[in-house]
Amino acid sequence: MILKDFFMALSQNQFLNSAAKKYGLKMGAQSVVAGTNIEEVIKSIKELNKHEISCTVDNLGEFVFKKEEAIQAREQILKVIEAIHKNKVDAHISLKPTQLGLDIEYSFCLSNLKEIVHQAHQYGIFVNIDMEDYGHLKPSFDLLDELSLEYDNVGTVIQAYFYQSQENLEKYKDFRLRIVKGAYKEPEEYAYQDKKDIDKNFIKLIEWHLLNGKFTSIATHDHKIIQHVKDFVKRNNIPNDKFEIQMLYGFRKDLQLKLASEGCNFCTYVPFGQDWYGYFMRRLAERPQNLNLVAKQVFNK
Ligand code: FDA
Repeated sequence: MILKDFFMALSQNQFLNSAAKKYGLKMGAQSVVAGTNIEEVIKSIKELNKHEISCTVDNLGEFVFKKEEAIQAREQILKVIEAIHKNKVDAHISLKPTQLGLDIEYSFCLSNLKEIVHQAHQYGIFVNIDMEDYGHLKPSFDLLDELSLEYDNVGTVIQAYFYQSQENLEKYKDFRLRIVKGAYKEPEEYAYQDKKDIDKNFIKLIEWHLLNGKFTSIATHDHKIIQHVKDFVKRNNIPNDKFEIQMLYGFRKDLQLKLASEGCNFCTYVPFGQDWYGYFMRRLAERPQNLNLVAKQVFNK
């Protein structure tokens, strides 16, 4: 718990975040971040596509407080969409509203998102709105509500640690939804704290959406839960085209390849870019054993 809190606090340290941008991928981040530019990320996607693995691309960045940075992020994501289209790779977009200005002004963020979703729509590319911490939950759903009035290529994430997740799941059941356990540190007031409670709710949400929803992305590295899902879809005759498993780039690579080779729809979340620091610290907070990624890089020099 102490390590988790330590890395979570580091993930939000603005000074370290800015310093990390200057120095490129360090501390083992290169194992879980697919490069710093579009050329590198497209290369990684092509490699994964060869194994029948589709990708969701995240131009790393979050908690942006300057308009010019949000605009820069928007332009970069538009370039990624162009690159996906031009290279004909099997990939879609994941993005974070705070990277596109949600903390600056709601309407500014909405217009940035609209531009992105519009462009992606022209190429038939899906855009996932990643979910951040509790403070951004409602405005992120509001963004989805407004975007879905005009576009059908958007979806979002349901975080199982929130008490209100079932309610949100039912409200948004007709969207393509990614279901996750939840990555941020949230107070007891809003969220389950105990791992067992989170896992129980996670399974409940997955089963409900598999039976009632449009398309379910089950995002986890938890092999026990994946096995549970495999048994559940078999028992309930859920067609293969109604769900996929998602994992993060660089994690459990053998399991990713195994699942894809068994014919399970599989999607890897592929982060790239210079703003890798917060993402990487959250991965260490989730699973301090990931520190061995850091150790390997340090000792392999
Ligand atoms: P968890 O960390 O609970 O581990 C459960 C068990 O799985 C472990 O005890 C171990 O046995 C096994 N395991 C896990 N990782 C392993 C590893 N690397 N190697 C070997 N065994 C391992 N969160 C959020 O709040 N908003 C979001 O938008 C997203 N988006 C997202 C996309 C994708 C594709 C993924 C995979 C995850 C997210 N998340 C997220 C993060 C998510 O909420 C959650 O914090 C992490 O996935 C960690 O939980 P897991 O279910 O993966 O396993």
